[in-house]
Amino acid sequence: MRFIERAIRGEVLRAARSFAAIVMTGPRRSGKTAFLRHTFPTAQYVLLEDPDVQARVRSDPRGFLDELRTPVLFDEVQNVPELFDYIRTRIDRVPRRMGQWLFTGSQEAPLMQGVSESMAGRAAILQLLPFSLAETDRVSLLAGAYPEVVARPRGRGLWFASYIQTYLERDVRSVINVRDLGAFRRFIALLASRHGQVLNRADIAAPLGVSIPTLSEWLHVLEITGQVMLVPPYFENFGKRLIKSPKVYIGDSGLACYLLGIASQAELERSPFLGPLFEGYVASEILKSQINKGRRKELYHFRDQQGLEVDFLFPDSHGKLWMVECKASRTVLPSMAKSMASLRRSMGDRTPARATVVHRRSPGAPPTRVLAPGIDALDVGDFVSELAGSGTQGAAKRLTRKSSPPARR
Ligand SMILES: Nc1ncnc2c1ncn2[C@@H]1O[C@H](COP(=O)(O)OP(=O)(O)OP(=O)(O)O)[C@@H](O)[C@H]1O
Ligand SMILES: [Mg+2]
Repeated sequence: MRFIERAIRGEVLRAARSFAAIVMTGPRRSGKTAFLRHTFPTAQYVLLEDPDVQARVRSDPRGFLDELRTPVLFDEVQNVPELFDYIRTRIDRVPRRMGQWLFTGSQEAPLMQGVSESMAGRAAILQLLPFSLAETDRVSLLAGAYPEVVARPRGRGLWFASYIQTYLERDVRSVINVRDLGAFRRFIALLASRHGQVLNRADIAAPLGVSIPTLSEWLHVLEITGQVMLVPPYFENFGKRLIKSPKVYIGDSGLACYLLGIASQAELERSPFLGPLFEGYVASEILKSQINKGRRKELYHFRDQQGLEVDFLFPDSHGKLWMVECKASRTVLPSMAKSMASLRRSMGDRTPARATVVHRRSPGAPPTRVLAPGIDALDVGDFVSELAGSGTQGAAKRLTRKSSPPARR
């Protein structure tokens, strides 16, 4: 597969002009190494995976660094976190030389620990998630967005099986002390079966025979390593009794389908999980658009105790509230706008919000339709184009136009 340009490029280049170092984190196999090598082709590449190289770094870190010329890209840096201390000294010698030290690695927790301790203020930390639909229209609900799966969707069963194995064995174990790998695997399967639901920790901990603190720790690790999305409730107070727990989703829809045993498009169409899977897919696109623009992740769900539900609320790039309802259907009906209309009424004029029903791609349908006064419908391709284009970043806009021609009519 030809290199597909990443939407975060603009943010990373900007960071390279204001920070001496850049740390690229993100889930395993999201494309970190490929992206950094492509974006900084003149940087010297040092892979810290080989035990010989690691031994050299440990025995003589100064000598090792003396032999390098900057800019330099260190890969799998979590293997030699002590390197950060020596690099910090070098950065402080010439603090105004920007973008000279590039790092990547996958074990987020220990990597981040090392970075925050040694590189405070000197490094920009960015996260690269799997592809967004704005980057390539090969991303799909069934296959998800990992570059290798997008390139060979038919091999995804095998790919996800080994991904889970490698991921469990290499990353999670090094981050937390999982004594019972079997229980951890059952935990992931159980989480998938709760995809799109309000999280009930006791309900997951009990069948696994683990304590709630342990469960929370496992969830936290999956969240920081980008494998799980926890979407907290919208907390704006307007006199309603709200549900306080987050909703939980497997981060990548392809991985979610795999864990749910959905092996084909036909099975997906029949699956009771189709709705929640589509919802999670839209959530991941919203988060990707925020991260790729260097913004904070800000995504909420709404559910009150009277049963009023709106899938997601988030600030658009101008800070204005945007609420969306996700419908896996390809046909939109005015009734789909009801819950948003009623939430808007209870919010009153204090919080004017855009309201959109996001539905599955429907080639041939007009790009935007008004469903009810002030409520529009967009197919997911057009929705993602708007997410990418609504910021200040021309690059993301251009990317969208180039890679999703059928969406624009
Ligand atoms: N932007 C891209 N365009 C096309 N193919 C890509 C792109 N990014 C990654 N790939 C493909 O996906 C594979 C995995 O990417 P890469 O090794 O960069 O991921 P990584 O995040 O560094 O993985 P790890 O966490 O294992 O270090 C690469 O071998 C490459 O073939
Ligand atoms: Mg890599």
